[in-house]
Amino acid sequence: MCRRSGFKSAEIGGRASNRAPVQHPESYECVAPVLARQLTEHAPGWPIETARLLLRPFQTDDLDALYAIHSDDGVVRYLYNNSRTLGEVRELLDRKIAGAVVQREGDWMSAAVVLRETRELIGDLSLLWSSEVHRQGELGFIFHPAHHGSGYATEASRPMLTFAFDTLGLHRVIGRTEVRNLGSARVLEKLGMRREAQLVENEWVKGEWQSELVYAMLAGEWADELTR
Ligand SMILES: CC(C)(COP(=O)(O)OP(=O)(O)OC[C@H]1O[C@@H](n2cnc3c(N)ncnc32)[C@H](O)[C@@H]1OP(=O)(O)O)[C@@H](O)C(=O)NCCC(=O)NCCS
Repeated sequence: MCRRSGFKSAEIGGRASNRAPVQHPESYECVAPVLARQLTEHAPGWPIETARLLLRPFQTDDLDALYAIHSDDGVVRYLYNNSRTLGEVRELLDRKIAGAVVQREGDWMSAAVVLRETRELIGDLSLLWSSEVHRQGELGFIFHPAHHGSGYATEASRPMLTFAFDTLGLHRVIGRTEVRNLGSARVLEKLGMRREAQLVENEWVKGEWQSELVYAMLAGEWADELTR
């Protein structure tokens, strides 16, 4: 019988973690036909332009700007990981550069978010293709603190959702956040996501029990959102 795979997402963005994905033996029969197929590369038509932003693939000279974001203690407060060293960000950047395309479930699509006017890199946006069989994804966003509160995370996430639903053909995209991360929850609400769950002290993170909000949106709901 085909059951949930038991994957727990590994992180390169959002609230996800450094933990290695755990593969449940029962998932093999589900994914075997997927792995046997020839893989296709999926990507948005880079770069993506919004009113104030440009979303593009990460590149090697983004190291300093990405480090400025991921080395900030305030930024990582509600992420699973601590602030990162330059070496850790270098490894992260390599994975993000590879995330210009996705090919299979478990892949992360990564977008560098830059201001159109100045080309300054201000954000790190990601979409995890979490299940091909169930057509599920997960959105993640991490922005430089100097640019919080200007609507950038919401503005950047919209075309990523369009990519998720229209190009990847996903059925459902979720966003997860620690319950105290009000800015993150607000972004997910502004995108039109529904709060599906509040998990109470479901994870031990950074020396404390943390609680998690799960937001979700279905493809049809995104289509409705676009007509508003
Ligand atoms: C979460 C994050 C990406 C939001 O980015 P942003 O560009 O500031 O988001 P936006 O400006 O689009 O929207 C933020 C909303 O949250 C609100 N907000 C922010 N902090 C808040 C707080 N402490 N209490 C209540 N609302 C808050 C803002 O007022 C805004 O809502 P509004 O437009 O209705 O006024 C940013 O804060 C960040 O990078 N945080 C650190 C990394 C992180 O936690 N990522 C999410 C992991 S799940």
